[in-house]
Amino acid sequence: ISTLPAEKGLISGHLHQYQGFWYPTMHIQKVLASQKHFQAQDTDILLATTPKSGTTWLKAILFALVKRVHYHPDPQNMDHPLLTNNPHVLVPFLENKHSGKNQIPDPTSYAPPRLFSTHLPLAHLPQSVKDSACKVVYLCRNPKDIIVSLWHFTNRVRHKSMGTNSLEEVFEYFRRGVSGYGPFWDHVLGYWKESLEGPETVFFLKYEEMKEKPGLQLRRLAEFLGCPFSPKEEAQGVVDNILRLCSFENLSNLDVNKNEKLSTGMENSAFFRRGEAGDWRNYLTAEMVEQLDRIIEEKLQVICVCAGDWR
Ligand code: A3P
Repeated sequence: ISTLPAEKGLISGHLHQYQGFWYPTMHIQKVLASQKHFQAQDTDILLATTPKSGTTWLKAILFALVKRVHYHPDPQNMDHPLLTNNPHVLVPFLENKHSGKNQIPDPTSYAPPRLFSTHLPLAHLPQSVKDSACKVVYLCRNPKDIIVSLWHFTNRVRHKSMGTNSLEEVFEYFRRGVSGYGPFWDHVLGYWKESLEGPETVFFLKYEEMKEKPGLQLRRLAEFLGCPFSPKEEAQGVVDNILRLCSFENLSNLDVNKNEKLSTGMENSAFFRRGEAGDWRNYLTAEMVEQLDRIIEEKLQVICVCAGDWR
């Protein structure tokens, strides 16, 4: 690890730069260990995101979609695991698959297809992932909404002794690329390019697209993952049931997500705030927007669809 000067971190106190990306110091050892220890299987499905892109939502969607043969995806089905477990418990981060203590339950024991998620940039995925035929779903989100979401989140979960971050501070660090698993721009571009080169292995999705046409995107996801909805399922309304089960309204109002915590001590409710696209309009100044638009234009212009939507 090149321990370059630590910047003031947004959650854990410090971020360290490792091969061009910023990692929370408290996670860097786990990341390096997972690169060594995580053994991908060809049938694995990996959700890759930057923090605050809607990871929790897509974890729920993927779990409901892929496990629908075992668990009938209906908000009225009280046996469904999503009604009593936070999505982060059902779909663990592969960064937690390491050899140290605090290891999550051994993921090798999960029934295939195994579902994992990661915040790692493409370049830092474990070699076993790159060598396998496993599928990657990449979810990204308008950076303007990510900044607002991150600002709320960090102030909520930071230790009280660390005080709060101002929106200006979060904005400035993010803009400069200094955010957990950032620079955001490089993270997005890495997966975008890979999705162009191997559309059968990397599926590139935007939070805003999922909000706008959830049924369409869910069907595309199902096709990509090799489990398309059958005519019978379509007639039974399975697509709508999955979307209702995983909706912000449903998940955020469940007892498990309102009142319980993860094993890390993080409150499950911290992952549910507003759940909308465009909340940045209520927070960012015209000057901030102008600066971000310039960066989006400059760094992400190859992703013309994104650049267009996010301005
Ligand atoms: P906001 O802070 O804008 O509300 P992550 O899961 O990557 O940490 O992202 C958290 C963001 O996703 C939060 O955004 C949160 O409210 C939103 N989110 C959580 N569950 C959601 C759902 N079911 N549908 C839409 N957005 C959701």
